[in-house]
Amino acid sequence: MHKDLKGVLLSEEKISQIVLNIASKINDEFSGQEVMLIVVLKGSMPFAADLMKKLTIPVMVDFMQVSSYGNGSKSSGEINIKYDLSTDIKDKNIIVIEDIIDSGNTLFALKKYLLNKEPKTVKICTLLDKPSRRESDVVVDYVGEVIPDEFVVGYGLDYAEHYRELPYIGVLGEWIYT
Ligand code: IMP
Ligand code: MG
Repeated sequence: MHKDLKGVLLSEEKISQIVLNIASKINDEFSGQEVMLIVVLKGSMPFAADLMKKLTIPVMVDFMQVSSYGNGSKSSGEINIKYDLSTDIKDKNIIVIEDIIDSGNTLFALKKYLLNKEPKTVKICTLLDKPSRRESDVVVDYVGEVIPDEFVVGYGLDYAEHYRELPYIGVLGEWIYT
């Protein structure tokens, strides 16, 4: 385990199981259809890469980098887009791939933004969910693992851009908050 962590929350093996589980749900639900994955940068990159390899339906991929105008500006619905889609999503089945949903503000605003582009469907898929911290009412269609209110890193998730490379998900040590 990395020295800055106080524990491992999800091992590589556990993450693989979660990914397989979600993939089989998506394969069933979209059987015979094509989906476009919208990968929310940067944290969802490893999850999206592993997930798409387990999908048996035809898939297209696009990327966005966004942040919400956070600070409890509760569901202002406004979104700050740092990197936008490069393809037209009209009439497409969209699955947004997120690393973690915390307040839900980012996804709430992002979903509204995407719906404006008139896709056929928009589903939200997240590896991790911290429902105890929810501020915005966002429907999450595929959840890998519900986790307690701890700050987690690894497998794409960062603290100040660090720890994304860890192959597992761990909880940062207490010292980081001081
Ligand atoms: P929210 O749902 O709008 O609050 O924001 C979710 C975003 O906050 C995620 O995409 C992450 O970038 C970040 N985030 C929230 N909780 C954590 C965590 O425990 N570790 C790392 N990033 C987190
Ligand atoms: Mg993020």
